[in-house]
Amino acid sequence: MPKKSLVKKSKKKNNEEKTDEVEVFIMGKSYKVPAGLTIMKALEYAGYRFIRSCGCRAGFCGACSTVYRIEDEQKLGFDLACQKVVEDQMYLVQLPFVPASKAEYDIDKIEPSDSTLIEMYPEIARCVSCNTCTKSCPQDIDTMKYIQMAVRGDIERCAELSFDCIQCGLCAMRCPADIKHYHLGQLARRLRGKYLDTKSKNLAKRIKEIDQRKYDEEIAKLMKMDKEEIVKIYKSRKIEAEQEENEGGRFANIGKLFENKLFVAFLIYVFFMQITMNGNLTYFPLYVLEYGGKEGLFGLTKMVGSISEILILIFSDKILDRFKIKHIFGVSSSAFVIRWLLLGFFPMRSIFLGSQILHSLSFGLFYVTCVNFINKVTKDDVKSTAQNVFTSVYIGLGSIVGNMVGGVIFDRLGGDIMYLTWAALAFTAGLGYYVFLTQTEKRVA
Ligand code: SF4
Ligand code: SF4
Ligand code: FES
Repeated sequence: MPKKSLVKKSKKKNNEEKTDEVEVFIMGKSYKVPAGLTIMKALEYAGYRFIRSCGCRAGFCGACSTVYRIEDEQKLGFDLACQKVVEDQMYLVQLPFVPASKAEYDIDKIEPSDSTLIEMYPEIARCVSCNTCTKSCPQDIDTMKYIQMAVRGDIERCAELSFDCIQCGLCAMRCPADIKHYHLGQLARRLRGKYLDTKSKNLAKRIKEIDQRKYDEEIAKLMKMDKEEIVKIYKSRKIEAEQEENEGGRFANIGKLFENKLFVAFLIYVFFMQITMNGNLTYFPLYVLEYGGKEGLFGLTKMVGSISEILILIFSDKILDRFKIKHIFGVSSSAFVIRWLLLGFFPMRSIFLGSQILHSLSFGLFYVTCVNFINKVTKDDVKSTAQNVFTSVYIGLGSIVGNMVGGVIFDRLGGDIMYLTWAALAFTAGLGYYVFLTQTEKRVA
């Protein structure tokens, strides 16, 4: 107890001089350094000279990983010495780069598949989900999650989640399963860049022009300019993607979007599923009435549907993180088929009510997965167009065709045949799309 009060007093004293100096400990030796310095500058101020563990000094190269402890605090701190500002009573240790063996591969020869990452780095299967890697990351990356995506074979998500990794190695140093996070993330990003993302025509064109030395003169001119002039030019530059978007409005770059086979196949799938859903939405009340249901029952079915939808939406993020999109679509498609079969074969009160529970999967989860899928398979310059096209098909075209075709079948053959037709249609579209996604799995995990 007496010790504690002494400590408090000494801290108070330090606070009184707070803007001037703080006390840090380097290799156990005490130094007073100006407050506000980064750890790296404080070390230099104390007389140390860097011959390693120092690179960009700007938080990009990951060379300056540091572990520290603040007096009386139980937790270890992890950060980059060039970014973290010193604190009073900080005990510092500079780390040499964390050695971690790297898998050998020729990126031109490996194929991206569900098992590529785990084959190259089988130790990821040993992850015990302790989350220590995430807590150690100075970049605030959800490191554990990208490892889990790799275990699942989701190369795209693994690449995306690890995008800000600067290879500092702090996660690898702490991992009890001896996983080499940063090498794995780098492989995922290489695979995605080389095989999975849509190729940028502009980039290919620009590389060719650079090879032909088209910009040499312009670069020479830039090199002679002063900073202000360069900033002015930079700020007034034209950004092609923005320009194209402004010119094309809600459907900018639509031609480019339709070159994306994954998106086109998805649109066809959604179109057929929505024919069945819209046909159901319009004729379900008539069907209920036809089989002796009252308006009250119809209201009740709506309520059951809405509750089940809300429940699934609450968990949708977790579901999307945990399962592959093709499997979620598979489950949703099955829910469509089961729902329509139940209604077609058993038009009775309990089924009218019970089948509404499937609304959660055939509407709620289906919609959220669609939006997520579009974000995943389209590039930034066509994302908003893709969402607009999707909405047009989902709400517009699917509704027009669903109502027209549904009306004709309901009128001529009856509601039960309409539902059995929807079941057949949903089964064909769902199965066809599942097979398509399985065949293109290298691109959509
Ligand atoms: S530190 Fe290693 S074992 Fe723990 S969650 Fe991260 S990868 Fe898994
Ligand atoms: S993921 Fe690991 S290597 Fe990458 S920045 Fe974070 S701690 Fe450093
Ligand atoms: S020196 Fe490059 S990140 Fe710190």
